[in-house]
Amino acid sequence: MDVILVGLPGSGKSAVGRRLAQRHQAPFIDLDERIESRAGRRIPEIFAEESEAVFRAHERAAIAELGPPDREPAVARVVATGGGAVVDPRNRWALYRDRLAVWLDGRPEVLAQRLRRSPNVRPLIVGRDPVFAVRELAAKRERYYSAATVRINGVPEIHGVLEAVEAAISAWRNPPTRLLDAETAIGRYVLGEGIAATEIGAALRRLEAGRAVLVSEPGAWVAAGSGIAATLAADGWPVEHVLLPQGEDAKRLAVVEEAARALARLHVERSEPIVAIGGGALGDAAGFLAATYLRGIPFIQVPTTLVAQIDSAIGGKTGVDLPEGKNLVGAFHQPATIVLDVAVLGSLPDRQRRAALGEAVKMAALGDERLFELLERDGTGIAAGDEATLESGALAEVVERSGWAKVEVVVADERERGPADGRIRLNLGHSLGHAFEAAAGFGDLLHGEAVGYGLRAACAIGEALGVTPPERARRIGALLDRLGLATSPLPYAVGTVLGHLAADKKHAAGRLRWVLPTADGVVVRADVPADVVERAATGQLATGSPA
Ligand SMILES: NC(=O)c1ccc[n+]([C@@H]2O[C@H](COP(=O)([O-])OP(=O)(O)OC[C@H]3O[C@@H](n4cnc5c(N)ncnc54)[C@H](O)[C@@H]3O)[C@@H](O)[C@H]2O)c1
Repeated sequence: MDVILVGLPGSGKSAVGRRLAQRHQAPFIDLDERIESRAGRRIPEIFAEESEAVFRAHERAAIAELGPPDREPAVARVVATGGGAVVDPRNRWALYRDRLAVWLDGRPEVLAQRLRRSPNVRPLIVGRDPVFAVRELAAKRERYYSAATVRINGVPEIHGVLEAVEAAISAWRNPPTRLLDAETAIGRYVLGEGIAATEIGAALRRLEAGRAVLVSEPGAWVAAGSGIAATLAADGWPVEHVLLPQGEDAKRLAVVEEAARALARLHVERSEPIVAIGGGALGDAAGFLAATYLRGIPFIQVPTTLVAQIDSAIGGKTGVDLPEGKNLVGAFHQPATIVLDVAVLGSLPDRQRRAALGEAVKMAALGDERLFELLERDGTGIAAGDEATLESGALAEVVERSGWAKVEVVVADERERGPADGRIRLNLGHSLGHAFEAAAGFGDLLHGEAVGYGLRAACAIGEALGVTPPERARRIGALLDRLGLATSPLPYAVGTVLGHLAADKKHAAGRLRWVLPTADGVVVRADVPADVVERAATGQLATGSPA
């Protein structure tokens, strides 16, 4: 096996790693030393004379050079990483997958004291108050370190630390890969590969549940739910399950009533959580069930579609449809934990995957340059369900970047009441997107496909108003083209589309705020003239002339 040591500067990774390697007569790899020999200069010089970005590129290359993980039980290599190596999702994928990742933790005050005495210059700390700097790094990076296989206190004298690492080595059974583990104001967010059952178990234990009550639907049940149920049962959990109808049919009040009665028959109590396993429709309906049954019970979201993983499971919007419109009855109800397991996405139909990337393009357009490049390079492979995009970590990175960006926006503005840069940003491509979706009768067009058309229309509006530079609009359009999204005009009358837009406007108390792309993000404008909107909508329609 490979033992990977991660943690903040000063946590003792090099000292512990060297001693551990000696004990096991295994090679010791200090990634910072490798970077220095690749670059031919010391790390502080790379930071000072080049940039942090150049250092990070060397770091990524040094991690890639580790090659595939060793899978034998004996310790084959011990690797000490630089403190920031795990910030990059692809580094974490390489360092945590099939490897024993040990987080050497310690109180920032103690680490800062060690750094003061250390002869090594740490570029992110130097010249600052070390306690403050370490605390800041700890807050920023905790979610990355927390995903390591084990957390060990690195502060006691080295012998004790080594013994704790030895115990972790003996206990190691190659568990599923965790990539991110964050405690946030909108619930715990855990991302990984193959983690669904173990993380549901952990979340149930945290909620002091006595059994696992799973709420799912036939499609997600076959793809993921039944396997999760079997693993939970094998782990000793009493398991119950309630199945709602598949697809949008789950989002009906009559279905929620039926499901609430099933919970009542199971004697589900006020503090007992339910586990929602499925895509966006199932999550919305089961979330609403959790929000209203006994005036609100805890729930765990286990999204099984790409749309749900990057979008709908995050943010706490739950609800059902009425014949008069989608999502007209609902509640804000945050899950206690969101478990995102990219392994369950393998069975998704291509069309579902492709459509979900419409939301990922939106997240990239909000201002994540790296996500943009990732989608430009790997988007078509992800859309086609190419196994290589799972193996390389590209799929997990798209889920992390899109999903985490949503977490940050929602944490800052949970109920969509904030200023221009609040939760409304997430509506990029959605105003006309919703109108196109409604014109299609919420059947012919998947949500992400509609968002693709909405994004093109938002670019057209932005260009007309002079806020979207033509090259930005071209780049967004070219990415949508590559992904095969919104490539042929829609067969609806513009009057129908604008009618749906007017209905949305009424629900928004007469105020339609447009989110429009800029050179590297978005602006919100409430002053878009009706003729500009009409031209942008018409641009996506085959009819080509206003009705
Ligand atoms: N709450 C929010 O913030 C939010 C945001 C965006 C979208 N949504 C809602 O999400 C819904 C659309 O999401 P969706 O497409 O995930 O809906 P969905 O739940 O209907 O799933 C789509 C289909 O995929 C199947 N499926 C689920 N997991 C699978 C798997 N792992 N393998 C194979 N098939 C699987 C389902 O059985 C279903 O037929 C809409 O109702 C929309 O309103 C909500």
